[in-house]
Order: sequence, then structure tokens, then C-alpha cells
Amino acid sequence: MNQLFDKHGRTINYLRLAITDRCNLRCQYCMPEAGNKFVERKQLLTFKEMYRITRVLSELGVNKVRLTGGEPFVRHDFMNFLEMLSFNENLDEINITTNGVLLPKYLEEIEKLQKIKSINLSLDTLKSDRFETITRQDSFSKVMESFNFLKSSKKIKLKLNFVVQSDVNTDEIINFIELTKNENIAVRFIEEMPFNGIGQKDFNQLWDFKTILAHIQGHYSDINPIESTKSSTSVNYQIPTYKGTFGIIPAFTRTICNDCNRIRITSTGMFKNCLFDEGVFSVRDFLRNGANDQDLKELFINTVHHKPENGFVAEQNRNNLNISESMSNIGG
Ligand code: 5AD
Ligand code: SF4
Repeated sequence: MNQLFDKHGRTINYLRLAITDRCNLRCQYCMPEAGNKFVERKQLLTFKEMYRITRVLSELGVNKVRLTGGEPFVRHDFMNFLEMLSFNENLDEINITTNGVLLPKYLEEIEKLQKIKSINLSLDTLKSDRFETITRQDSFSKVMESFNFLKSSKKIKLKLNFVVQSDVNTDEIINFIELTKNENIAVRFIEEMPFNGIGQKDFNQLWDFKTILAHIQGHYSDINPIESTKSSTSVNYQIPTYKGTFGIIPAFTRTICNDCNRIRITSTGMFKNCLFDEGVFSVRDFLRNGANDQDLKELFINTVHHKPENGFVAEQNRNNLNISESMSNIGG
């Protein structure tokens, strides 16, 4: 009964919804030290609006939602929203991407919510001083608390997002793979993208997919590729006998667009067919101008139909070719 198809034969069933553009960290690859120009509260979608958008999309076939930011837990009442969303019978999975700083106090409550199956924890280092350099904040112990809890959770699957940064943390790639030896966690190495709030200047990507894989192959004689779900964002592998897995996300080289099943809605309600497009229309303004559910459905169906074939096409179609957004505006 899915009604969201594009003209390239892909079916959309996965929404990535950004809860806020704000964050309590200042990761070097994401935003300048002073933070981005965060938007005023009234520009953000309200939780009611997010609930409604998700409900309408779920009636069109979206059954999986990922909540991102910025950092979702910095928005007041996020826990209530999670509970509210859990009542939507059309949704099979509600997952969260978080930096883990504010997570410890909510973990027990989150474990009780059946639909929350996995949490992506952003973690680029296991060294406290390096954490502070990368994130410009002193919150490593909080993140470790979340990490340790999730690592031993029987219910929530832990995925670690590791942004591979030349000259910063590449010496920890193997340490992170070693984390999968005894724990069933999935480590995902992400190519760094130019979404740092400043733009593409000086961006010199040395550690792309191939480099990362070659580096890992230099350390392990045996690496098994593993079959991933069709729309997986990462290309996945496992070291034989290790409990967990690791994957590489070709975020920048964009080799996985063929199987894309995702759409995004930013915290201000911009609809995006692709991470690399500029935003197709404002769902927020459409709602605030009185659109009814049927209007919304038609708009979603028509827009998804024109989803660009891949991230390169989406980038070429931009009016402003200079990518200057931050992941925290886009919704990681
Ligand atoms: N390049 C790659 N990954 C990024 N993220 C944020 N900014 C960038 C970037 N410029 C990652 C975060 C988080 C995920 C949502 O996106 O580390 O794990
Ligand atoms: Fe915050 Fe994530 Fe951006 Fe870091 S990468 S500043 S944790 S939104």
C-alpha cells in the first residue's frame, strides 16, 4: 500500500526527521566554534506539526523514522514526542541519532519504548582529550555513560557513527573495529562531508571509502563482506569470529544512491528528496497556510516522484552550488 514511488523505481518508506538545528556540541566538521546561526523557535516545526507530518507520511507507506538534529535531546519535551510517536501503529521502527551527551537520564525510559530498535551514537574517538578537541566541549564522560549502557542493552541495537577525519582520528579506526570483537555493535565509518557550516573551501578529502577499506585490509587478513538490507546506508563487513560488524558510509562519494529509500524533513520543515538538494518545499508553510491531509498527501506523492536519481544530480540542480549548510541544519 505504499504510495511513495519515484520515477527511478525506488519506493520511499523511510523518513529522517530533524528535531532541532541546535546542538550542545560544536564538532569541527559540523559547525564553527561559535555555533551556526540557529533559527528562532517559531521557525521550527512544533512537535504537533511533526506528529501530523509523520502520520500523513505513514499513511502513504513510511514505516520507519529516524529522529536526528542537531541534537534531538536538546529540544525540550523530546521524550514526550517519542512516546507520542510510538502510538502510531503504521510505524515499525523509530530510531534516533544522538551525540549521547544528554542521553543517560533518559535511557531507561527509552528502553521501554518498543519501537525504538536502534540508536546511532556519534563517537569519533575513545580518547577524552581528543573528544574535547573535536567537539570543543568537555562531555566525554557523559557520552561514555551512554555508550556503556547501550553496549549492554539487550533491546536497543547500538550503532556507532565515526566520522573519519584525516590527521585527527584515523589512528583509531582499528581500535573501533576491535570494539566489535566481543560486543554486538555496528561501527560505521563515515566519509567526511563538506557540511560544516562554512562550505567546501579547503576541503580535501583524503580518507574516502577506498582509503578506509584499504587501511582496514592492511590490518586484517580476513574480512567478510556481509549482505546488507537493500537500503542500508553503509557497505558492511565482519571480521570472522567477531560478534559485531563494521561498515563504511560513502557519504561523499555517493555510491549507494541506487537503493535510496529516504526522504528528509529539516527542523524548519523543509522537505528534502536528497541530502544534497537545497530543500524542495516548506511543509511548515504549507501546513500553516491551512493545508488539509489530502493536500499534503498529494504534495508528498508528487514531490517524491521527482526524487533526483542520485546525490550528484541533486547537487547539480542546486541554485546555490556552494554547499554551505551544516549537518545540524540539514538533519544528519
Ligand atoms: N561529514 C560527515 N558526517 C557528519 N556528521 C555531521 N557532520 C558531518 C560531516 N561534515 C555526522 C555526525 C553524526 C551524523 C548524523 O552525521 O557525526 O553521526
Ligand atoms: Fe552536534 Fe552532531 Fe554537529 Fe557534533 S556533528 S555539533 S554532535 S550536530
